[in-house]
Amino acid sequence: MEKKDTKIRTSLHPAVEENKILRPSPNNISSAARSLKQGKLIAFPTETVYGLAANAMSDQSVAKVFQVKERPSFNPLIIHFHNIKSAKKFVKFNKHASILAKKFWPGSLTLVLPKKKSCMISLLASAGLDSLAIRVPKNKIARELIKKSGLPIAAPSANISGTISPTTAKHVLQNLPKNNVKILDGGKCKVGIESTIIDLTKKNIFLLRPGGLEISKIEKILGLKILPHKNTSPSRPKSPGQMNFHYAPRIPLRINIKRIVPSEALLSFGKHKYRSFKKELNLSFRGNLKEAASNLFKMLHALDKKKFSSIAVMPIPKKGLGIAINDRLLKASKRKFS
Ligand code: TXA
Ligand code: MG
Repeated sequence: MEKKDTKIRTSLHPAVEENKILRPSPNNISSAARSLKQGKLIAFPTETVYGLAANAMSDQSVAKVFQVKERPSFNPLIIHFHNIKSAKKFVKFNKHASILAKKFWPGSLTLVLPKKKSCMISLLASAGLDSLAIRVPKNKIARELIKKSGLPIAAPSANISGTISPTTAKHVLQNLPKNNVKILDGGKCKVGIESTIIDLTKKNIFLLRPGGLEISKIEKILGLKILPHKNTSPSRPKSPGQMNFHYAPRIPLRINIKRIVPSEALLSFGKHKYRSFKKELNLSFRGNLKEAASNLFKMLHALDKKKFSSIAVMPIPKKGLGIAINDRLLKASKRKFS
């Protein structure tokens, strides 16, 4: 049953015929890179979630990203690079940044670092801050696209602000239906949850968002404790990781459930004894957190249907990738319904 849910069926999707969803052939990647150079937006797969790419040096392209995503302009974007060398042209690396980049890039770690004076990234992309969030993604299609474009790429997740992040090309299409953005189809994102973001601009290292790379792995390599970030201004958060709700489905979501009612959909984890519900999807039958993270957004998308009264989510262990999963679920559960 689980296998069926994770299968990619983009070839049957009408959008393929409409040429909105593109197979990631060398030609299509080259043409997407050209589009980026011309100032257009492209949705593309990364190992974490699908991103909405724009030339990070162009105010006009970056403005389109904010517009398409309906994103508040005070919320800065992550800039994606092909390698450390190209990132170093824009930001100042310190010792910790160099160690982490060497160990975890390409991969699901975002570093917030001070900008260089010569930094040519659009001020809109960095929301006027003197720091920049940067990462080198691992996904092959993402790497090819960035390399061929020769640009620093601003890319938030390719969804309307506040909704569930996309982990398939079809999610992007469903989430941004009114826009003419082309989508490179890389199948299902392997990690399935956004990158871990840490702030390296201060004396202490702060966690801005738990994500696809376990915090314990970062602490181990640095031999340092990563501190939780204290939000100074809830209306202008340093990261949406600090916002009250985010990643929200359209129907209510209950977390850490002890009971379930028959009208609900169950998002389960491991084995259980619940019997009476409308539909079930299991994040990981074997209780594996990596598998659960990779399934989380896809299954939330699948259960976000008005025919269910709400989505009931079983408790997920708060360790390893479970920290990022619980973070997303907590925020998804906080949406207010009138
Ligand atoms: O996995 C990911 O990180 C995905 C893929 C596409 O790379 N991207 C993503 O972007 O999740 P987005 O825009 O949904 O989240 C970017 C986060 C936001 O929390 C934003 O506030 C934070 O990065 N951010 C960006 N620049 C920052 C800065 N200079 N200081 C602090 N936080 C920053
Ligand atoms: Mg996002």
